[in-house]
Amino acid sequence: MRVKFFKDKDLTSDFRYNRAMKKLNKHIILGVTGGIAAYKSAELLRRLQDTGATVQVVMTEAAKEFITPLTFQALSGRAVRDDLFDSAAEAGMGHIELARWADLILVAPATADFIADLAQGRAGHLLSTLCLATDAPIAVAPAMNHQMWHNTVTQQNLSQLADRNIHVLGPAAGHQACGETGYGRMLDVPDLVDSIEGIFANDLLAGKRVVITAGPTREALDPVRYLTNYSSGKMGFALAEAAVEAGAFVTLIAGPTVLDTPNKVERINIETAVEMNARVLEHVEDCDIFIGSAAVADYRPSEIQTKKIKKTNDTLTLELIRNPDIIKNVSALKNKPFIVGFAAETNDIIAAAKNKLVNKGMDLIIANDIGRKDSGFDVDSNEVTILSEEYQEAMPLMSKKLLAKKIIEMIAKEN
Ligand code: CTP
Repeated sequence: MRVKFFKDKDLTSDFRYNRAMKKLNKHIILGVTGGIAAYKSAELLRRLQDTGATVQVVMTEAAKEFITPLTFQALSGRAVRDDLFDSAAEAGMGHIELARWADLILVAPATADFIADLAQGRAGHLLSTLCLATDAPIAVAPAMNHQMWHNTVTQQNLSQLADRNIHVLGPAAGHQACGETGYGRMLDVPDLVDSIEGIFANDLLAGKRVVITAGPTREALDPVRYLTNYSSGKMGFALAEAAVEAGAFVTLIAGPTVLDTPNKVERINIETAVEMNARVLEHVEDCDIFIGSAAVADYRPSEIQTKKIKKTNDTLTLELIRNPDIIKNVSALKNKPFIVGFAAETNDIIAAAKNKLVNKGMDLIIANDIGRKDSGFDVDSNEVTILSEEYQEAMPLMSKKLLAKKIIEMIAKEN
């Protein structure tokens, strides 16, 4: 018998999965429902992880007849969620939080029964509840006998899903586990992973150059102390990610944050407002869109002490001087880009934002109330009003990731 030895190169070039190695770094809920194709979901989980995804598996009761939760737990490194009323799991991450955590809910395989649940908006179990509670995209990979697939009621349910912008991936045609042949096989794993890239991508800003500022700035007082603010950078980073997904080339000029750089984003780290201003002016020249989402310190200490300030007196007076206004500087450029800014306010929010829009020469401003606990600085959600000179739109409370997509859609309409 001859044994063929593969070189590493042969193996990788053989693997269609390599097409999907692009890093998406998403939070994905992988919903597994009760069909024989559930055995393929373990492989799907692995391939999703190859795209940088963190995968939380949610199973229905019927799914557990086909594959054990332990398999998914071992592969994902996370306990499988399967019960809406599991008080221990709910205490860790409640189902509403989980629905918000997700960038995508992918149900694979999706049985005819689950598709019917989804079409009717039912919330009888954890997975269907998550689908109702999320603002992330939902995709289903149907897997069923071909007669069930062709049944009018299944097709009606699917067209309802399509009307609600739920992505239906597949099915494929071929030999089925029931011994028959036809449409109803779950799409192959590499094709599913490829389709997911497509869900996140659009060409709203194809080829545009976008410069974004994000996060706080840090203004040194002495070798151990600095002035800063509560900004986490989450909104700016979400905007950078959404702009890349819309086909833009993105430069992100970021103050100190713990956030990971989104895929394909050119990141420049800075500390102070003066540095941020300099980096912006270097990069903004030939850009189409500038988004100032950073919480730039308006003042910096007039002098940075070279030695640690000692507590010699009962009071300490600091002298602060004005920092450059970055948006104003961009606005003053001869070739100014489309400018988007934020107005972080605690009172008279709309009036203050309108003033800033005009005074700083912006095209669009996003006004947010930073006095609230669930909106603004250092949280995952935001409730804002988007204003231009011509219009004003109040947005409901939503995740910063979804809001970033909406803002990018608005910017794209004007560019
Ligand atoms: N901004 C800027 N440069 C500064 C201060 C703010 O580019 N030195 C930008 C922010 O990134 C944001 C917008 O200006 O997009 C408004 O920021 P905000 O802090 O709300 O307003 P300020 O201009 O600082 O005014 P005030 O603090 O007086 O409300």
